[in-house]
Amino acid sequence: MQPDPLDGVEAPDQEASIQRNPYTDFSAVECQRPSYQHDGMLKFSKTPNTSWRAGDGASNKDWEHRRFMSIDPYEDNRGPWLNYKLLISATVPRPIALASTVSADGMTRNLAPFSFWQCVSVDPPMYSLSFTGRGVNDTLTNILATGEVCISSTADWIIEAANFASVNTPRHISEWPMSGLSPKPSEIIQPPFVAESPYSVECKLHSHHDIYSKINPKIRTATLVIVEVVRFHIWEDAIGPDRATANMDKLRPVFRAGGMMYGTCCDVFELPRPRPFRELREDNAINKLVSETQ
Ligand SMILES: Cc1cc2nc3c(=O)[nH]c(=O)nc-3n(C[C@H](O)[C@H](O)[C@H](O)COP(=O)(O)O)c2cc1C
Repeated sequence: MQPDPLDGVEAPDQEASIQRNPYTDFSAVECQRPSYQHDGMLKFSKTPNTSWRAGDGASNKDWEHRRFMSIDPYEDNRGPWLNYKLLISATVPRPIALASTVSADGMTRNLAPFSFWQCVSVDPPMYSLSFTGRGVNDTLTNILATGEVCISSTADWIIEAANFASVNTPRHISEWPMSGLSPKPSEIIQPPFVAESPYSVECKLHSHHDIYSKINPKIRTATLVIVEVVRFHIWEDAIGPDRATANMDKLRPVFRAGGMMYGTCCDVFELPRPRPFRELREDNAINKLVSETQ
């Protein structure tokens, strides 16, 4: 008898405790909303305050009327999920990494989205990925076992597929067919990358660091993984002739916010860095600000 592919221990359903969906009928709510704008060209505007000068601070005085709420992360009746909800809704926008890994026996290809990720260094180019939750998920298991992961950026045309790849399938079931995305063979490492994504990186594990609960220090609650990029893959029309500057208009990245919220980064402006201080200090207004700090 063939083994039932669905016969396995399902990954823990963390969603039940998070209660991310605030609507009783999300379809009805979405029906009322306008359609997504697929043209999504970058819309350039001026900066919020074009007349800003050194020392001006905030562009309006609204903040003067705000009162702060102070929260102890371990106050009574405050479970870790509330800190999770605050962290993900206040630390925005976060780009979304689609992480592709292969199990140690080479049998199962895994794909899952992660928004706790960022650039770490340039020489060598490195990224961080953070895996949270008491259960060690398949992506983390595979990275630690094989030392390899491919990360693909999440463009707006693959956001539904990327979201679906977060389904908590048993270990031996691949999310690739369910996402409908196409695995493209990597050059150096085993895991493929997402052909539909304009930017992907082949990475090797550099190091990892386990983080333990403050309530019960025996329990690992997260693992921070640092990976080194060994190959970049970017669509030819998404990078400039310098082979360095990616075009956000072509990457069309989706960011993850809190709850079930996602967004795009279409409204942009450009803001030059300050001139060198040796030039700025010839300005009397700057000199006055400097003398105030002495
Ligand atoms: C957009 C998005 C971002 C996510 N970010 C993270 C993250 O940064 N860290 C994490 O541990 N889980 C994150 N998750 C949840 C994982 O994708 C989910 O637990 C998934 O089932 C893990 O798959 P795996 O067991 O195949 O590795 C995210 C889910 C979504 C939809």
